[in-house]
Amino acid sequence: MRLIMVGFGTIGQNLARILESKKKQLLREFGFHPRIVAVVDTAGAMINPEGLDLNRALAVKQTKGSVAKDPELGRLGMDAQEVIEGVEAETVLELTPTRIVDGEPGLSHIKTALRRRRHVITTNKAPLAIAMPSLMEMASYNKALLKFSGTVGGGTPILDFVRKCLNGNRIESVRGILNGTTNYILTRMAESDTPMDAALKEAQVLGYAEADPSYDIDGMDTACKLVILANSTMGREVSLKDVEIKGIREVTREDIEAARKKGSRIKLIGTVDGGVSVRPEAVPLGHPLCIGGTLNAVSFRTELTGELTVVGKGAGGVETASAVLRDIVDVRRALAQ
Ligand SMILES: NC(=O)c1ccc[n+]([C@@H]2O[C@H](COP(=O)([O-])OP(=O)(O)OC[C@H]3O[C@@H](n4cnc5c(N)ncnc54)[C@H](OP(=O)(O)O)[C@@H]3O)[C@@H](O)[C@H]2O)c1
Repeated sequence: MRLIMVGFGTIGQNLARILESKKKQLLREFGFHPRIVAVVDTAGAMINPEGLDLNRALAVKQTKGSVAKDPELGRLGMDAQEVIEGVEAETVLELTPTRIVDGEPGLSHIKTALRRRRHVITTNKAPLAIAMPSLMEMASYNKALLKFSGTVGGGTPILDFVRKCLNGNRIESVRGILNGTTNYILTRMAESDTPMDAALKEAQVLGYAEADPSYDIDGMDTACKLVILANSTMGREVSLKDVEIKGIREVTREDIEAARKKGSRIKLIGTVDGGVSVRPEAVPLGHPLCIGGTLNAVSFRTELTGELTVVGKGAGGVETASAVLRDIVDVRRALAQ
């Protein structure tokens, strides 16, 4: 199975390490050996049609800053479009940064790959949040698979849970905590009376929040994940513009205190029922969604089995790379069939 990896940052490099360390296991358990034939970053590409030595790609990236600087296999200046168009492979891994304004460069990479009838696996939320219905249609028209397990819940199999465990059932509504940064901040505000600014600084020091945290704080990250959930688990055709979004910026210590007095905690909750919305809500202690720290939790109200909740870590390099690995195995299974 030949793969092109576009983006070689935290997720790409963790995936490379996992693929190297699990070669024997993948062959034994699933009977295949994924070969990364090209890796692309912002400076260019590294290509070997026979399959790259990923330890070598990691070493070049670490020592020289770009895989394109490999003296033999590097192609400085070769961009992702050229690689997706020109290098023979069954699957493209799209692992570039989330840019919510226009979904680029991921959106163009995914469209080019699908048009070329290549399967796509991505962890990049933006292209899906902006254009999920049309990308799903494009994938189906071109008989290609579009997989995105790592976009919601990092390594926690929230989307796979629905796809693999609820066959024949129907999801009536979804409610969840989908952003670890805001959950950490709200938890610190409630448990140790830390002001929001100080809790945010702590989250940044601990590496949970970006230098510019507005994407998390203002609810955009939760909204993107909600769009992906609504489309993929409930058959809704929605995109970001359909989501009513209110982040946690205006949550005060008084709000936190009032919730505490009522035996609740304020959480940033994403909901898909009649509409799609993100807003801070009071959740009673003891409710499955009342989880602390950086955890994510999603409750599905189902037609046949009542309410089911999945809880786990919502991000992380290794965890999210493990979701890409699950998708690679799924694509391989589909190809084998
Ligand atoms: N990290 C997590 O825990 C996590 C969890 C869930 C989802 N995600 C999502 O997964 C994606 C990747 O995350 P990450 O943490 O690995 O990001 P990252 O560390 O910033 O890495 C991004 C990579 O994409 C490359 N890149 C950027 N623009 C490109 C272009 N036009 N063509 C080719 N390569 C390009 C960068 O190249 P350079 O190396 O040259 O800069 C870098 O290698 C993001 O969309 C993120 O939101 C991340």
